[in-house]
Amino acid sequence: MPRCAGSNLLLPAVRYRAASATDADEAVIIFQTRVKLPSELVSYAEVTKASESKTPTVSSGELRHYSNSGVPSGIKQRPTLYYLCHVSAQLPPAFPPSSLQTAMTTTINGKTTATSWAMYMRSLYADRQPPTLGTVAVDKLEEAAREKLKDRIEAFLYVFGSAGTCSTHDYNRNDFHKYKIIPRMLRDATHRTLETTLFGVQYPSPLLLAPIGVQGIVHPDGELATSGAAAKVGIPYIMSTASTRSIEAVAQASGSGPRWYQLYWPKSNELTLSVLSRVKKAGFSALVITLDTMLLGWRPHDIDTAYLPFLHGVGTQVGFTDPVFMAQFGKDAYPVDHAPQWPYDPAHLDERIRQGDETAKEHAFLGERWIGEVASGVFRPWEDLAFLKQNWDGPIILKGIMCPEDAELAIDHGVDGIVVSNHGGRQVDGSISTLYALDKIMQSPKVREAQASGRFTILFDSGIRTGSDVIKAIALGAQAVLYGRPFMYALALGGQDGVESQIRAILADVHVTLGLSGFKNLDEIRGKAGVLARD
Ligand SMILES: Cc1cc2nc3c(=O)[nH]c(=O)nc-3n(C[C@H](O)[C@H](O)[C@H](O)COP(=O)(O)O)c2cc1C
Repeated sequence: MPRCAGSNLLLPAVRYRAASATDADEAVIIFQTRVKLPSELVSYAEVTKASESKTPTVSSGELRHYSNSGVPSGIKQRPTLYYLCHVSAQLPPAFPPSSLQTAMTTTINGKTTATSWAMYMRSLYADRQPPTLGTVAVDKLEEAAREKLKDRIEAFLYVFGSAGTCSTHDYNRNDFHKYKIIPRMLRDATHRTLETTLFGVQYPSPLLLAPIGVQGIVHPDGELATSGAAAKVGIPYIMSTASTRSIEAVAQASGSGPRWYQLYWPKSNELTLSVLSRVKKAGFSALVITLDTMLLGWRPHDIDTAYLPFLHGVGTQVGFTDPVFMAQFGKDAYPVDHAPQWPYDPAHLDERIRQGDETAKEHAFLGERWIGEVASGVFRPWEDLAFLKQNWDGPIILKGIMCPEDAELAIDHGVDGIVVSNHGGRQVDGSISTLYALDKIMQSPKVREAQASGRFTILFDSGIRTGSDVIKAIALGAQAVLYGRPFMYALALGGQDGVESQIRAILADVHVTLGLSGFKNLDEIRGKAGVLARD
């Protein structure tokens, strides 16, 4: 039975048949079409390139509009572009698709080719329709999310806000203007790939979704939507300890998608062990330990309205579903599908508490205790990392590293990687930007040597908005980047589909901009002098 790999609607439509695993060279690619299939499709499609020595036989093809709204009007006038972008792929049983292949690549004759992310752009032009969220520009998304959430503006401000005067967030963004790409011409950049290997696993792009907590305040599906979108595109989802869904529920939504877990380190070792064992069992492959939030930052946007969802039991679902945490209070763990009520209405919950509502009171009590565990104000020393190393057998990555000295200490303590991050400016106001920090960190010979040997992975976070931002971070030496607030605005506006389309938008931007800058893969730019000019 051929297995459907049609989750990526930007792939060319392929039903691939091989009578056996060995006669794959005789591949026949079958399409079923409602209208005449233009031959351009075959010569353009990724799958044709993949077969290299043979031109696949095209019998017929099937057209589907990717928004499932039927064939758009005007299609007959411009069939070629339409065909290029709206078909799904099926792979033969000989090459069962992993989730990454499913989402991002096509395997033909045993060879895998990266998806052309730029096809997303072509599809937008071809459709003559606005993108799913009405815009691909992050500042407009932010405004649209503010408008959509205007009756619960505190939820928007929780995402938008930063520490103090928001100066760190501003520095994060402004410093991208200090580094500029130097485009190169007449170079081989026709066939481009964004493939990136992290901790021995090949991913289709250098993008990961940043761990963001409390997603259920902006959309009823919360983390289920974002982890589902990440899985569909094949990029790692980093689940926050402050999620509004359980570890097990997020794992289920993520399915066979790649997923990492972000740990806010509980005070209690027993609780830490319980969380780690659930994380492992649920198929999370890497552990990201956030170091910059031993206590919450000074955030005027939230303080002014005393907005802290955890205190109503929202964003505490990892704790509420944990047997060790709940046993401290003589209670059983909540079911793994436990989720907070939508929409989150703090005034209403306070009223219920005042009226003695037992459920609301219990959530508030447990929420406060959970926050006391995971943002306890207890600052841990480097030596404590040994405990996590002993009890986690996958990669360990420290999030929040901002200077060469701490990056070198991370190497000394045997961790596998760092995320250069200032938490999107939400913790220390007046801090250096992450791009500046990355530049300094990459000047450490010890860091560069550890990275080159493959022992130490460097990720970048805070301020990524566009394709050129990604290219700049990688040119400064990062191996991959975390995408944060923009996906939260996309979630608020369009749920899972919105997040998926915004991920595709930034990756199309990276893919196009990489080529226009004269490069065909990320190895050509990673940490390379001459890619950027600096003010
Ligand atoms: C609403 C919100 C919640 C966040 N929650 C977490 C979290 O639970 N754990 C964590 O490590 N980082 C958290 N972060 C920080 C992000 O992982 C990331 O560092 C930050 O969003 C990057 O900045 P940017 O969004 O401006 O690019 C949060 C950020 C936001 C905006």
